[in-house]
Amino acid sequence: LDRLNSVSREFLTSIRVVKAFGREDYETGRFGTAAEELAASGISATRVTAVFGPLINLTVNIGIVVLLWLGGTGGHQDVGKLMASVNYMTQVLFALSMVSNILNTMVRATASAERVQEVLSEKAAMCEPEIPTAEKPDGRVAFENVSFSYIHSPEKSLDNVSFCVESGQVLGIIGATGSGKSTLVSLIPRFYDVTGGRVLVGGRDVRSQKTSQHREAIGMVPQKSLLFSGTIRDNLKWGDPEADDKALDAAAHAACADEFINGFSKGYDTVLGQGGVNLSGGQKQRLSIARALIRHPAILVMDDSTSALDATTEAAVMTRIREYARGTTVILISQRIASVMRADKILCMDEGRVSGFGTHEALMAESPVYREIYKSQIGDDEHASR
Ligand SMILES: Nc1ncnc2c1ncn2[C@@H]1O[C@H](COP(=O)(O)OP(=O)(O)O)[C@@H](O)[C@H]1O
Ligand SMILES: [Mg+2]
Repeated sequence: LDRLNSVSREFLTSIRVVKAFGREDYETGRFGTAAEELAASGISATRVTAVFGPLINLTVNIGIVVLLWLGGTGGHQDVGKLMASVNYMTQVLFALSMVSNILNTMVRATASAERVQEVLSEKAAMCEPEIPTAEKPDGRVAFENVSFSYIHSPEKSLDNVSFCVESGQVLGIIGATGSGKSTLVSLIPRFYDVTGGRVLVGGRDVRSQKTSQHREAIGMVPQKSLLFSGTIRDNLKWGDPEADDKALDAAAHAACADEFINGFSKGYDTVLGQGGVNLSGGQKQRLSIARALIRHPAILVMDDSTSALDATTEAAVMTRIREYARGTTVILISQRIASVMRADKILCMDEGRVSGFGTHEALMAESPVYREIYKSQIGDDEHASR
């Protein structure tokens, strides 16, 4: 049943892709296979009952017949004893048919139990500290020789990464896709534990803090904007349930989201479909930036979250964020060099390793990878100055 559910959920949520690629038949086939599996397990469970039920019935009834026969022909039993024996026999029959019902349930339950056991036996990969530090961290972020590989993956997604950024600074991260940028920032809220080295936030190891408290200080704008069904107001309040309308407005303004929200006839009460289907990509990104800003985080992580915005809007968002969130450390991942060029520090990633760290000028002088990206996006120096 679990498999049937996941097949149909996947099909329904990606129905447009399925239609676009004309894969309806394939998906119907997958559903059919899952449904047949469910049917087969139902049939095998029923078969057990189908055999056992009549078998038990037959045995006991034969027993009663034999009893009556012996009692009737032997002649030395009185009627009361005979009837009592028949009664016992019927009760045994009743109990046995219960057993066959239980057998049926057991066949179904063992299948479920295996799945449940898989989940239960999964160990929590992360341990909470015994004595967590109480203070709220400030916005300093430092990586010390951090290595990380995903579970079941032989390759290192991060290899000996070290850098540090002070409170209130902007750190730009640039690098090819798959170079480990998203992996790197997911270590800051401790979505995963490092496999080597340390991640420090506010000067303290992230593992020395209570995870829930630690994450409160961090505003995440994930690479894929995830919104929930409900109104725009509901979605923004995710960041801070206590926020009033003024706070919502301020955060929306900082993310340049107020323009389009006020353009809707219902404003903040506009209802979003599941995953925000009735918004454009850029609108979704701006809403998820506003949702992160409203928490007034000490650290704001933006994972390629302005990719669907045009350059002018992107620049406006960045300026407004700086005004709105003074003192907040901003970690900004981008594919576009123009977006990170003006950051206080830039981290250039290449295949999980740091290939350069410093200001734009320093990287232009030192890092061949960074120079290469710059050339491919902006052109070489002569072109740029012309
Ligand atoms: N959940 C995951 N499980 C296993 N490997 C992953 C996972 N996410 C990313 N990776 C691998 O880690 C590397 C870095 O990925 P990622 O950090 O997403 O890169 P970027 O954000 O720079 O495009 C890639 O080689 C990718 O295959
Ligand atoms: Mg990424």
